[in-house]
Formats: sequence, structure tokens, C-alpha cells
Amino acid sequence: MTGGGTYNAHMAVGLTLGAMTVPGTLYRRVTLFLELLTVTLLVGAAYGSATPVGAAGGAPGDDLPEGPGKKVLVRACTTCHDLDEVVKFKGYYTKPQWRDIVVTMKEYGADVDDAEVEVLSDYLAEVLGKK
Ligand code: HEC
Repeated sequence: MTGGGTYNAHMAVGLTLGAMTVPGTLYRRVTLFLELLTVTLLVGAAYGSATPVGAAGGAPGDDLPEGPGKKVLVRACTTCHDLDEVVKFKGYYTKPQWRDIVVTMKEYGADVDDAEVEVLSDYLAEVLGKK
């Protein structure tokens, strides 16, 4: 009777282990998926930070002072690229150069009218301009 009991216990363990190989495979797949996701995110982050110089970390747009130009900037200049793409050029361009950029972006399709081009160029030169 005791012997039989032991045997049955082994059977039970064997069955349990056997059943566990299925979730085990699933677990490995989930882990693999998470690893791939992590790699993708790391590569993405590395790629993102590999682009130029300038404003390090944080939410760049929020560092900019309020003003009429900021509204235009946030509204019209974040549809195709991040504000970061603009802010990272802080200190690189003079006012006429910022104006050229705004005009170029308008040609690309930025939603700014002629008056806003002036407001925005003034603002960009003031907060991000070459001193
Ligand atoms: C229709 C899409 C679009 C909109 C809207 C847009 N941009 Fe761009 N922007 C681009 C593209 C595409 C590039 C990269 C190609 C290039 O540099 O010409 C770029 C690049 C830039 C650069 C980098 C220029 C450099 O010297 O490399 C700056 C600065 C910039 N944009 C500012 C702005 C500002 C300011 C606005 C708002 C007035 C704006 N963008 C709106 C498409 C856009």
C-alpha cells in the first residue's frame, strides 16, 4: 500500500512536469518577445540620441519661454518632427537664418501664414538664436 502510494506520487510529479512544458514554451516565447522589444527600444533610443548636439534630455519644448511665437511653434512645427528637431539647433542660427528655415518649412507645408513667419522668426531668434 505504501509502495503504491509512492508510485502514484511519482506519477503525479511526472504528469505535473509534463504539463508544465507547455506553459514553459510559452514563457520562453514571451521572454524572447520582450528581448526583441528591448533591443528595438534600445536601438531606437541610441538612434534618436545619435543625432546632433544641443539641448540634452528633458522635454525640450517645455523649456522654452511662453510667447506668441511659442504657440505658432508648437502648433505648426511639431507635425512632421519633434520640437527637439528645432530646439537642438539652439545657438546655431542668426535671425535671418531662422527666418529662412521657417520659410523653408512653410514651403514644406508648415501651417504658418506670412504674419506668423515674422512672429515665429523673431521668437526663434530670441530664444534659440546665435548670440
Ligand atoms: C511638412 C513637414 C514639416 C513641418 C510642418 C515642419 N518641418 Fe521642419 N523639417 C522638415 C523636414 C522634412 C526636415 C529635414 C529636412 C531638412 O532639413 O530640410 C526638417 C528640418 C527642420 C530643421 C533642421 C534644419 C537643419 O538645419 O538641419 C529645423 C530647425 C526645422 N525643421 C524647423 C521647423 C520649424 C521652425 C517649423 C515650424 C515653422 C517646422 N520645422 C515645421 C519638415 C517639416
